Amino acid sequence: AKTRGLRFGSCVSWSQSGADRASFANPAYAALLERDCGVLVAENEFKWQALRPDAKTFDVERFADMIDYAEAKGMAMRGHTLFWHKTERFPRWLLDHDFGADPKKEATRLLTQHIKTVGKLYAGRIASFDVVNETVDDQTGALRESNVSKAMGGTEAMLDLAFHTARAAAPDAELVYNDYMSWEPGQGPFRSGVLKMLEAFRKRGVPCDTLGLQSHIWVGNEPTARLVGRQESDWRAFLDEVVGMGYRLAITEFDVNDAALPADIATRDRAIADYSKAYLDICLSYTQLKDVLAWGMCDKYTWLNGFSPRKDKAPMRATPYDAAFKPKPLYTAIRQALAAA
Ligand code: G3I
Repeated sequence: AKTRGLRFGSCVSWSQSGADRASFANPAYAALLERDCGVLVAENEFKWQALRPDAKTFDVERFADMIDYAEAKGMAMRGHTLFWHKTERFPRWLLDHDFGADPKKEATRLLTQHIKTVGKLYAGRIASFDVVNETVDDQTGALRESNVSKAMGGTEAMLDLAFHTARAAAPDAELVYNDYMSWEPGQGPFRSGVLKMLEAFRKRGVPCDTLGLQSHIWVGNEPTARLVGRQESDWRAFLDEVVGMGYRLAITEFDVNDAALPADIATRDRAIADYSKAYLDICLSYTQLKDVLAWGMCDKYTWLNGFSPRKDKAPMRATPYDAAFKPKPLYTAIRQALAAA
């Protein structure tokens, strides 16, 4: 990646750190992160859930240890996320928050305070922020609403405030809108919704630099060439429109859900590797894409094991390394895609 002017990295999670906080990570995991990654992102520790135990308090201790670790090892850090606009992901206190007699004022205060505090705290140390995460409804493409956006007078007002506040707090940082629209079939309305929102950002002068392609891809039980053949042109059309509006691209959370594949490990690994290589080749053919982050480097820790367990209960083969920290065909596929970029 480095020789191609790209950055490869991964999310890391506090739960992988073991009991010894000072060593940050499981040594076997740390070794592969330090070997392969130029950039890290906290899987959960930068979210409101982690940083904001209540409306008044900021608790940055766990995240601070992570960013210190990344910097000590010469790795950059991304910030995920200044606001996850999906009510299922709000902390309980925010869902229950009393916005009082002047809801707009209170919502503005709350959002501004969070983004300003965290943005200023890490300005210069976090080079790229997911300012807002998952605001577009994956079924309809409409903007999601919440008690916060309703109090603000609408989701657009919330988005504008979030991005402008982030730019003011961390003027040199890349500001990203991050979402999980993907290249798989049935995502047309979702992708259109994202395009509409990005277009409206440009009209309103919203300071958003980059579209974050989460890239939680699902490999189907069909030959790769057929899957790719069906999906490539729609995905390219989408990316063309995004870069055509002047946005950069980033792969922010790459992993592969293999719940649909048969049990045989060799077959699964081959299909995952081929499908991923095709996906990454397409994305990396855009020179506007510089960051490729995996959502975890090792199958032992992938969130997918809990999110969509396979019928046979076998661990997912979603990440570059297996549960024993051995590189898999997916590792080679990522390496080859980066080398070809
Ligand atoms: O830390 C608590 C633990 O104390 C408690 O006992 C346990 C009981 O459920 O929960 C633990 O917290 C969990 C946390 O992960 C840490 O493991 C939360 O319940 C769980 O909801 C949380 O899931 C995370 C999810 O985002 C929601 O924040 C996943 O790890 C994380 O991989 C996932 O990441 C998201 C990105 O942020 C946005 N894009 C999609 C991606 C995958 O869903």
